[in-house]
Amino acid sequence: MRRSIVARIAVAVLMPAMLWACGNNDSTSSSSGGGATTKASSKPLVVGFAQTGAESGWRTANTQSIQETAKQRGIDLRFVDSQGQPDNQKKAISSFIAQHVDVIMFSPIVTDGWTPILNDAKDAGIPVIISDRRVSSPDDLYTCFIGSNFEEEGEKAGKWLAEKTGGKAVIAELDGTIGSAPMIDRKKGFEKVIADHPGMKVVLEQSGDFTRAKGKEVMETMLKQPEGKNITAVFSHNDDMALGAIQAIKDAGKQPGKDIIIVSIDGIKDAFNAMQKGDLNCTVECNPLLGPALFDAAEKVAKGETVPKVIYSKEGVFDQAQVTPELIASRKY
Ligand code: AHR
Repeated sequence: MRRSIVARIAVAVLMPAMLWACGNNDSTSSSSGGGATTKASSKPLVVGFAQTGAESGWRTANTQSIQETAKQRGIDLRFVDSQGQPDNQKKAISSFIAQHVDVIMFSPIVTDGWTPILNDAKDAGIPVIISDRRVSSPDDLYTCFIGSNFEEEGEKAGKWLAEKTGGKAVIAELDGTIGSAPMIDRKKGFEKVIADHPGMKVVLEQSGDFTRAKGKEVMETMLKQPEGKNITAVFSHNDDMALGAIQAIKDAGKQPGKDIIIVSIDGIKDAFNAMQKGDLNCTVECNPLLGPALFDAAEKVAKGETVPKVIYSKEGVFDQAQVTPELIASRKY
């Protein structure tokens, strides 16, 4: 009895230290950890993933990449769709802790409110990998972050628009989900750039929650407002909202891509098709194919190896002038 208590205390003390292997702050790509098993045995690696939901084409591609990679590597993936509700995501993480999974991953719907659940995971000795969207919690509560630099994406959109319009634009901004990292950081990056261009002003701004339907609804409302009649440009925090807005602009009798210049973020195939038609002018790439990098990290962490603290995806900017049928065919999402 006494020996088993001592053994349990030893495991409780040593496991978090073994699994909580945090790395440095470089942003190089991770390489394969080789083999989807845990350190201690040849049992398949068990990973719990709490996804945001299914709000966009980007998200569909992201989910597919995660599920397909897990399948290819023989990983036991416990996948939960949180349907846009942070509380559902917290419940999913609690249940992963109760199931004693080897690694927890999640794409936080919003940045705030994760400290208590991250502390629970840390107390249980389960490493957490943050996928796609950053959290505002202290970074010693998670193992690493893998995703995009959203602020840089906002800056790229701002620079492209400044160049395209010669620094003169009356802008409507379609925000993503309020309080989410891509909404906060893309806005920040965009604003940083237009602050240097006195001729560029955001006159209307509203959230379309990253969905096509809400992007359309918000743009319809904006176009009816006095300021909306004068807009010459749209900055949309994702492609789906831009595609909804394009429909609303057409319905209002204006020509998207000509009367109103549109720049958005993601680079989904539908955005390339819209650029080919002349409806969309530019998309800033945000790579959803995170499955390989996420499971490379999970495999390493489960073996007690160190991984970089932040791993950013490499991404480009696509202007409509670059779009060819070959480019569209080469897009993977
Ligand atoms: O977190 C990434 C963002 O979430 C994508 O830009 C958007 O399309 C998605 O829903």
